[in-house]
Amino acid sequence: MNKEIAIDGPAGAGKSTIAKRVAEKLGLIYVDTGAMFRAIALYMTGKCVKSNETDKVKEELNNIRLDIVYENGEQQIILNDENVSRLIRNPEISKAASSFAQVPEVRERLLILQRELADKRPVVMDGRDIGTKVLPSAAVKIFLTADVRVRAERRYKELTDKGEKVNLEDIMSDIKSRDEQDMNRKVSPLVQAGDAVLVDTSSLSIDEVVDTIIKIACDKN
Ligand code: C5P
Repeated sequence: MNKEIAIDGPAGAGKSTIAKRVAEKLGLIYVDTGAMFRAIALYMTGKCVKSNETDKVKEELNNIRLDIVYENGEQQIILNDENVSRLIRNPEISKAASSFAQVPEVRERLLILQRELADKRPVVMDGRDIGTKVLPSAAVKIFLTADVRVRAERRYKELTDKGEKVNLEDIMSDIKSRDEQDMNRKVSPLVQAGDAVLVDTSSLSIDEVVDTIIKIACDKN
């Protein structure tokens, strides 16, 4: 398949799991844009820079080099020559990523990288503004969502399966506040594109969601 697929939606809707599988099945490249915002947040917090310190954020952006590479089909994010793909997966970085994602200069910088990646090869790209801003002419646009409790329960299971001690209510409140921040920011807020298909995964299995999206993509032929 030679089409761009944009998948947007709120936190914990399963975008990355689904997007990765859709990409594998269709022979496309999966691009996780959240990882880019997370890497910026990791760098900035490591320098004690806060998201409201606009001048410092702008200055530090000049010192950041982000590279996206693939290892065994898995996207790796390289921040100034260091593979930070694991370091960016924690609740503090999730929160910080959402705060830095409000800064227009951060978004502009990542927009260039995101479009460069999509220019090279057809992609399945997931994020918050892919269908509305990054790839507005993507052939297939999906808005993936699920009830907030279902999203929190899935995240809870994922973390407890890994042996982490977490609290369901804390996870739910983190998800809610991140969604609220992402939906209400001034630049590129999280919103369903007018031409996106809404897929509510609350009562669907991963395979069912993947099949639904592939069917939508094939029907666009
Ligand atoms: O998708 P993920 O949870 O990894 O994204 C982390 C944060 O990055 C989101 O909460 C959101 O604030 C930001 N983000 C964004 N636009 C994107 C992808 C992620 O603003 N395209």
